[in-house]
Amino acid sequence: MDIKLIIDDKEIKAKSGEKILWTALDNGIYIPNLCAIKEMEPPFGGCRLCFVEIELNGEKTMTTACSEPVQDKMRVFTNTERVRRLQLTAFELLMSDHEINCPECLGKENCQLLKIAGFLKIKLKPKRFRKLERNLMVDNSNSEFILDPNKCVKCGKCISESEKQGNKLLTFAYRGIDMIISTFDNMPLAELNKDILRECAVVCPTGALKEIK
Ligand code: SF4
Ligand code: SF4
Ligand code: FES
Repeated sequence: MDIKLIIDDKEIKAKSGEKILWTALDNGIYIPNLCAIKEMEPPFGGCRLCFVEIELNGEKTMTTACSEPVQDKMRVFTNTERVRRLQLTAFELLMSDHEINCPECLGKENCQLLKIAGFLKIKLKPKRFRKLERNLMVDNSNSEFILDPNKCVKCGKCISESEKQGNKLLTFAYRGIDMIISTFDNMPLAELNKDILRECAVVCPTGALKEIK
């Protein structure tokens, strides 16, 4: 069933139940996002970058656009002060343990962090949070791929992609602040299926998992 909603003063027709994020993006309205995968249900919701403000039946609330379905007569605001504040905090937190060396990074051509920093008009290096140097081991055992956990934003996209390809090659190891991206069973990258790794590298939004070309 089609419904009508307003996103930032733009009237939009959408399918009932579709998430705000995909409706906005399909209509040319950018909302920062890193961990959203369209077909994933329930959404992962880990990066907290996609906050929007919604108004429905006279009530205003903050929500993540990747998890909230559109509804008839809903109003969505993607750029209020509260929205920006939450997005800036989420971005700074993500960058607090991110190793920043863009000129040498294999992900620089299509880095979503650079895109989001540009959109939010913010520097990559966080101002409000102490920078954590993690110096995690880089897996460069495979001459065609690199896995650098220091550049991972824990979006889970590579894990989900490898599962979709029918072989769980990657996983998160440890929990909480220590969580890192890792190969399944700590296998060296050199021993993993290259065709699947290639697909995983394509969906990685940073320079953490990349094909060396
Ligand atoms: S992942 Fe992006 S922000 Fe991080 S070093 Fe690479 S290009 Fe820079
Ligand atoms: S390696 Fe890339 S795709 Fe995988 S979790 Fe980290 S940032 Fe996301
Ligand atoms: S894209 Fe919505 S929480 Fe990450």
